[in-house]
Amino acid sequence: MAKFIPEHIISEIQNSIDIVDVISEVVILKKAGKNYFGLCPFHADKDPSFSVSPEKRIFHCFGCGTGGNVFTFLMKFNGYSFPEAARILAVRCGVRVPEQSLTPAQKRLIDEKTRFFKINTMAADFFHQSLLNGVPGKNAITYLNRRGFSEDIVTRFKIGFAPEGWDNLLSFFYSKKIPLNSVEMAGLAVVRKKGSGYYDRFRNRIMFPIANIAGNIIGFGGRVTDDSLPKYLNTPETPVYNKRRSLYGIDAAKTKCRANETVLIVEGYLDFLALYQAGSENVVATLGTALTDEHVRMLRGCIGEKGKAILVYDSDLAGIKAAQRSIAVFDRGHMDARILVLPAGHDPDSYIRKHGRDSFMRGADKAKNIIDFLTDMAVRQHGLSIEGKLRILDDMIGPLAAIGDINKKSLYRKELAERLDIDESAILHKVRDHDKKKNDTRPWVPGNDAMMSASNGSCSYAENETETAKAKFERRLIAMMLQFPDIIPEIETRRLPDFFENSRLKALGYSILKHYADSDGHVAKLIGQLKDKRVHAIATSLAIEEQSWSYEGCLKLIDQFESGIKHHERILLRKIKEAETKGDDVNLIQLLAEKQKYARNKAKKQNCVRRR
Ligand code: CTP
Ligand code: MN
Repeated sequence: MAKFIPEHIISEIQNSIDIVDVISEVVILKKAGKNYFGLCPFHADKDPSFSVSPEKRIFHCFGCGTGGNVFTFLMKFNGYSFPEAARILAVRCGVRVPEQSLTPAQKRLIDEKTRFFKINTMAADFFHQSLLNGVPGKNAITYLNRRGFSEDIVTRFKIGFAPEGWDNLLSFFYSKKIPLNSVEMAGLAVVRKKGSGYYDRFRNRIMFPIANIAGNIIGFGGRVTDDSLPKYLNTPETPVYNKRRSLYGIDAAKTKCRANETVLIVEGYLDFLALYQAGSENVVATLGTALTDEHVRMLRGCIGEKGKAILVYDSDLAGIKAAQRSIAVFDRGHMDARILVLPAGHDPDSYIRKHGRDSFMRGADKAKNIIDFLTDMAVRQHGLSIEGKLRILDDMIGPLAAIGDINKKSLYRKELAERLDIDESAILHKVRDHDKKKNDTRPWVPGNDAMMSASNGSCSYAENETETAKAKFERRLIAMMLQFPDIIPEIETRRLPDFFENSRLKALGYSILKHYADSDGHVAKLIGQLKDKRVHAIATSLAIEEQSWSYEGCLKLIDQFESGIKHHERILLRKIKEAETKGDDVNLIQLLAEKQKYARNKAKKQNCVRRR
């Protein structure tokens, strides 16, 4: 783990950083007892099952099982490698990381993402300078001013201009000795079809740098200043830019989203900027893609469990389509979502310009939840004749079926029945038919791959129901070791993990013993060293629990475990005798092997005691 950065530096970072501080930048945390709780950013969390222990310096989600120390958090949340996470935290707490501990090959590996962030930052600076200096840039500023954007907002979001011509940016990077293939990999240049070399991807466009939640520039959007097409050009997928996971403005908006427990979701760069400039800073833009599960999860982390999202669309039709598409996404993400459709011909930018922000916000306050919105639309379209009601019902079955939450579903069903003045059972049957049809062809799968891996990949703390009583006991002992390290010497002396039957708990037991023998280690550090994913998950879940232990209580538990083992041994001996009298050789061999194991463990234990 700490191959690249010396161990003592890692410890220093670990000891000086406040894990609650780091995590609360992206998850709203509330204190309850010694720990903090919030909505898990790694799965669609309904109730706060994500806990952070400042004392133990670890986090753990009781919903999906994800957990670890502050490094793990950054790695999982931002996709950083361990050294990246360590470096970022080092900067944060002022610990110096020696560079010379890296070989060139290691450095290259570690720095790949950082390199893309750097190239993007350099490009953003280049574009911004081109905007501020020179005639074409001035024209672009004039265009932005004419559309109502202030110098302040241009500076705040480092808006820029990509000059006309095929190699302005490339020449700039050449002069800075940046390899041009990296510029191409960052999505800023394109390989020439004929001949060799590259050309600038963005030419004669106003440039909007896109940042991730941590504020690193991951890509760009570029708009023409006239009617030529395409109106917008965006960075293609790169190692750091993935549009499913990107929201324009998220880094600038996150603080206000948290404060207001509301986020406005708009479609365009300029809609975002118009709202932000007008003072609604809790806004993000989706940039030409439908809202994804990843978007919702990220926003959920910002607005908190009681927060709501208001989707803003610029026409009934676009609104209806988006509403239909996003119902399931919001439902999976347990997010309270509303829809605000602006009058025909307006998008948020033009609406604010014409009617002002207050009028916009009044509309936002009155925004309807998605089902009510769709019902309104259907009623408006089909009317309330018998014929119309049937059509409305047809329109609404899909959206109702998309809701997974049974209580919510039944509530909406009731509402719709009342609204249409029809019998609720008619709706119920229709929804059931619809569900059945859907299930026949396509089994329900959780939202997406990321979610699948969050719920399947990591083992949850409560293994399975079939866990034996003995394994449960072993789990208690491990919890004790993690939460009450004073007892570890005793466990070591009695070699308890040797007698564990659950292989993961056994491995974990040994790791704990080794860790505390090698260093005066903190539990967060131990957890950082556990390679096996499931063992790691078990460790965080047990370590974060708040139980009070006393030395005597612990000894009692250990004694119980040992007498359990003795009891088990006696049973074993009896079974061996039985098998012998019966001549059951197959069974006998197995039983004898088990007995041998016990004998070995006991011998080890005696050696250990003698040595002390
Ligand atoms: N978009 C895109 N590619 C396009 C067109 C649009 O990625 N060819 C995305 C952009 O993020 C854009 C958003 O979809 O901001 C909304 O598009 P549109 O409504 O056409 O543009 P506006 O943002 O309203 O820009 P403007 O007001 O300058 O027309
Ligand atoms: Mn617009």
